[in-house]
Amino acid sequence: MFFSVILRRESIRLDSILIAECHNEKVSTHYFVETSQVRYPVMVERGAIEQKLTELIPAKAHRLFIITEESVWKLHGHRLAAVTNAFGDRLRILHFPGGESRKRLAEVEALADQMLAAGGDRSSVVIGFGGGIVTDVAGFAAAVFMRGIPVIQVPTTLLAQVDAAVGGKTGVNLVGGKNLVGSFHQPIAVVIDPEVLGTLAMREVRAGLYEVLKHGVIRSPELFAMMEEHPLKILAQEAAYFDKAIAESVRIKCEVVSADEKEGDLRRILNFGHTIGHALEAETRYSLLLHGEAVAFGMRAATHLAVRLSTLAPETGTRINEAIEAYGEIPSLAGVTAEALMARLISDKKTVGGHVHFVLPTEIGATVIRSNVPDDAIRASIEAAL
Ligand SMILES: NC(=O)c1ccc[n+]([C@@H]2O[C@H](COP(=O)([O-])OP(=O)(O)OC[C@H]3O[C@@H](n4cnc5c(N)ncnc54)[C@H](O)[C@@H]3O)[C@@H](O)[C@H]2O)c1
Ligand SMILES: [Zn+2]
Repeated sequence: MFFSVILRRESIRLDSILIAECHNEKVSTHYFVETSQVRYPVMVERGAIEQKLTELIPAKAHRLFIITEESVWKLHGHRLAAVTNAFGDRLRILHFPGGESRKRLAEVEALADQMLAAGGDRSSVVIGFGGGIVTDVAGFAAAVFMRGIPVIQVPTTLLAQVDAAVGGKTGVNLVGGKNLVGSFHQPIAVVIDPEVLGTLAMREVRAGLYEVLKHGVIRSPELFAMMEEHPLKILAQEAAYFDKAIAESVRIKCEVVSADEKEGDLRRILNFGHTIGHALEAETRYSLLLHGEAVAFGMRAATHLAVRLSTLAPETGTRINEAIEAYGEIPSLAGVTAEALMARLISDKKTVGGHVHFVLPTEIGATVIRSNVPDDAIRASIEAAL
C-alpha cells in the first residue's frame, strides 16, 4: 500500500506573499518568510545590494563580518561600498576558501576564531556573500558563534538565490556525507540581486535554472509555462524573463518555508528530483556533476516514475522532459548504473523507517509524495533516465 500525501497549491497560507511590483519590466519584489518564530524580508531586485543592504543591518551591530570567497569579492565586493564605508574599522572581511571540500567544521572554527580576535561579540552581525557553499558556512558560523548572532544572506549564484540562501538551513559536510552537521538558523534578511549573476559561468546558470524549473513543476504552472516558452531569453539573462523566473522561484521557496520551516511534509515537495539526484551526486563523488545537474537527472527519473505509476499523464511527462532538455545537456553519465544508484538510494539519509520517499508530479504545479514504491519501478525509471 502506498503512503501518500497530496499537496496542492491551495493548501497553504498565502500570507507570506506581500508585495510584488513590476515597473517597466524591472522586477522589484519583496517577499517575507514568516514562521511562528521569525519574519524576515527576501528581496529580489537589480541593484539591491548597492541600494538596500546597508539599511537592513541592525543599527546596534558593533561589528560586521562579511564572509565571502576571494574570487566573488574581487568581482562584486565593490557593490558593498556603502556598507564598507558605513562600518569602517568595525568591519572585517573574512575570506573563506570555497569549494565543497572546505565546507567543514574546521573552517567554521577558523572563522569563529577570527571573529573573536576582531572583537566579535553577541552584538555582531554576519553577511554571507557568495554561492551556496558560502551562505551555508556563513549561516552556520552565525548560528553557533556566541550561541547565535544575526546573519544577512546575499547569495551570488543562481542556485543560492533560489534555494540555499532562503529557508535557514545551514551546515557543513562530514567525511561520511554532505550537510550532516548543521542547524536551522533563519537569516534576518536575504538580498537577491540578479545583477551579480552576469559573471556566473553558463554551466552554473543552467544548474540553477533546473532548480527554478523544479519550482515550476511542483507549484507554479505560470513559471513552468514561461520557462517552457522562453528558454533562450532566460538563458541569456534577459531581465524581463530571467528576473521574473527568479522572483517566482523565490516566492515559492518563501511560501513553502513559511508554512513548514523544519521540513515536515510540505517542505519535502522541494525534494522533487532530489531523491535520485542525491544518489547520483554521491555515486559520481560530487565531482562529475553540479548539484542542479544531478537534480535535472533526478527530475527526469521521477517524471518517468510518475508516468509509470499513473500519477502523471504521459503528455505532461513529455512536457517536463522537454523543458529540462531546453536548458541544456547534463554531462555524460557513462559508467553509472541503475544498480549502483539503487544501492545508494537505500542509504539515503532522507529515508524514513527504511522507506525512500519520492515527490511525484500529478500535473504541472502539483505533486504527491510516495514511499513504498516497488524497486522494479524505481530501477526502470532510472534506466529510462540513463
Ligand atoms: N541550505 C540549503 O537549503 C541548500 C540548498 C541547496 C544547496 N545548498 C548547498 O549549496 C552548495 C552549492 O551552492 P552553489 O551551487 O552556489 O556552489 P558554490 O557556492 O560553490 O558556487 C559555485 C561557483 O560559483 C562561483 N561564484 C559564486 N558567485 C559567483 C558570481 N557572482 N560570479 C562568478 N562566479 C561566482 C564560486 O566561486 C564557485 O566556484 C552546496 O554545498 C549545497 O549543499 C544548500
Ligand atoms: Zn537542490
